[in-house]
Order: sequence, then C-alpha cells, then structure tokens
Amino acid sequence: MHIIAIANQKGGCGKTTTAINLAAELGRREQRVLLMDMDPQGHASLGLGIGERDMPGLYEVFSDEMSLHEVVLSDVAQGVDLVPANIALAAVEPLLTNQPGRERQLLELTEPLNELYDYILIDCPPSLGLLSINALRTATQVLAPVEPGVYALEGIRQLRDIVSLLEEKYQVDLPIAAVLTMFDGHTRFAQTITREIREQLPVALCGVQIRHTVRARESAYLGKPLCDYAPASTAAGDYRRLAGEILAASNKPTETLMDRGIYLAREESLEEPSMSQTSEKPVRRMIVLTFSDLECTRLQLAGDFNDWIPDQNVETRNVNGHWQKVFTAEPGVYEYRLLVDGKWQADPTNPCEIPNELGGINSLLQVPVHH
Ligand SMILES: Nc1ncnc2c1ncn2[C@@H]1O[C@H](COP(=O)(O)OP(=O)(O)O)[C@@H](O)[C@H]1O
Ligand SMILES: [Mg+2]
Repeated sequence: MHIIAIANQKGGCGKTTTAINLAAELGRREQRVLLMDMDPQGHASLGLGIGERDMPGLYEVFSDEMSLHEVVLSDVAQGVDLVPANIALAAVEPLLTNQPGRERQLLELTEPLNELYDYILIDCPPSLGLLSINALRTATQVLAPVEPGVYALEGIRQLRDIVSLLEEKYQVDLPIAAVLTMFDGHTRFAQTITREIREQLPVALCGVQIRHTVRARESAYLGKPLCDYAPASTAAGDYRRLAGEILAASNKPTETLMDRGIYLAREESLEEPSMSQTSEKPVRRMIVLTFSDLECTRLQLAGDFNDWIPDQNVETRNVNGHWQKVFTAEPGVYEYRLLVDGKWQADPTNPCEIPNELGGINSLLQVPVHH
C-alpha cells in the first residue's frame, strides 16, 4: 500500500484540490483509495460534498471516542472512501502534545487498513504542527503541491528539512515530489517564476503540471471532483496524467520505461535543446520508439503529445525492417496508442499500460525531466 501525504505548509497552494482529484482519478482506475482529511477546516470533505459540520472524523478517533472504521464514509466518489474532518480536529494538537509516541498515533491507527486500500491520501493542514508530523510519519511518500509564486521555494525547503529530520530520527526513506499547480504560463512573470522554481527546487518534480482553470473552484464549490464536474477541463486532464504518473511510479515496469525514455533520448543524442528554445520553455526531448517485431504495412502513432492525431508531428523511419517513430515532447507522462494497419491497439512492446475511458488500454510513456 502507498500512503501519500499531500503537504506544504503554505495555504492555498492546491493541496486539497490535488488530494480530491488525485483520489478520484486513482479511484476511477480501480484503485481502492482512502482520503483522509487532516485539515480542521474540512475542505477535502466539503469538496467531496460532505458538508455537515459535525460529521465525526479524525478528532473522534484521536480522542478514542470512535474507531477509524466507524468514521470512514464509503464511496464518496468512485472507488474513494473518506475520513472526514471537522473543526474539532483543531483541538487534537494540544491533546497529542502530552502523549508519549505523539508523532506516531496516526501510523498506529492506519496499520489495520493496510489490506483494505491501495492508496491512502492524506490532505494535510497548512502548518507543520503535530497533525502534519503525524501524516508525514505515516506516509511512504510526500506530494507537495507548489503554486508558482515568490515564496514557493521557501516553503518547500522547510518541508524538505522537516522530512529529512524525520528520515533521520526514524530511519525511514520518505521521498518528496513536488507538483506545480495553478500553472498559468501566459504572463512573463509566471514564466520567470516557474523557471526559477524548476531550477532551484530542492526535491523531485513531477512531469505533469496542473493548469489554472476556473473549473477547479467551481467543482470544489459544487462538492464534486473535476472528472465528474468538468472532465474536459485542462486541470481534469492534468490530474488524470498525474494519477498515471503516480501509478506508473508505483509499478515496477515504469522504471524500465523511464530507462527506455532516457536511453532512447541519449541514443539519438539529438540537439539539446532540440527545438528553437525560448528560455521560458521546458526543454523538449527527442523520443525514438523502436518496434522490432511488428509486422504491418502501415504504423501510426497517436497520443497526448500530438493531440491524438495519428502521426501528427511524428517522423516514421524503417531501419532494416524495424519501425521507428520519432517525435519531441516536453518532460511529462503521456498516454498513447498505435494504429497498426488501421487498427488501434496498445504498444505491445511497452509493459506500462492504463485503462482508457473507452474501455480500451493506452500505453504510458514517461519523458523524464533530468537525464
Ligand atoms: N488548478 C487550479 N486552477 C484554479 N484554481 C485552483 C486550482 N487548484 C486549486 N484552485 C483553487 O485555489 C484555492 C486554494 O486551493 P486548495 O486546494 O484549497 O489549497 P490548499 O489546500 O493548499 O489550501 C481554492 O479556491 C481552489 O479551488
Ligand atoms: Mg486545504
């Protein structure tokens, strides 16, 4: 089981939006997901349509009034259960302060859930108090939403320092990945800030970035995840790809794929940067996919990187009977399919796959940020 703490002590950087939409996307991909609302403001609960303020939640569990099982609400979205939060949770920190083992209360509580879920996502409050420490102590990885802005790096450095302390104290490995949220590359300022963050970020950065859209606020207001309220919105697609990236990182085959992306890009050792670059744009990488045993007279490629238009911006080579497809893409995770003699299919040479909305299978390709 994977336990992801969605943390950043900076308020309003997209933690709750990421928690809700990542949970919903993982749930749609047949993962069993538990979303824990650890913010006394209860925004994750509200954003999933759980509006009653006095719904029992983690406070009741921490204070031994109820068991964790008793407060779990089933199927608040497809595949997603929720541990709600209410304002009483704000009283947990003083309650925990005097208890021995106060940093591992949540860890102990969640142990019996290991068999029940594939993913537990914890929506952390905007502070690094005992609630967040408990979440980080329980987590197997940290996802830090980062809104490109002036103090963004400062917040991430503090988070990294706290995580390093916990790693040392408890002898655990707790990787942090940041994801850019509310991304709007239209202004020069946004481009400059984003470039600075990319260059100076002290932790790994997800390939996907979540774009700014008014639909995000609307969907929170209506208590629905984006995939239900506005599935065609930019951010809905971005969260879909983020879920793909996280699933891919949790499953072994991706490592091979990542290697493959790196290997192929290196093998060609193509111009880097490979397209005329303005300094604001992330570097595009040249990707070469080779299909050795594919017998057909026509092979086309379509995916997120070319708006699913077969062979748009893709060069085809046939080297000694082996097909090659060559294209450029920015770092990120892409879904794609092949058209083999006019028939759609997933890439038979790629073990990393994901179900698509039409009941078929797409292949996943990761283009890494760094070599
Ligand atoms: N991609 C996005 N585009 C536009 N608005 C967003 C986006 N993500 C989040 N928001 C809005 O920004 C505000 C803060 O987001 P939220 O997820 O609640 O942050 P946090 O949990 O870190 O405080 C909310 O009003 C939310 O609806
Ligand atoms: Mg929040």
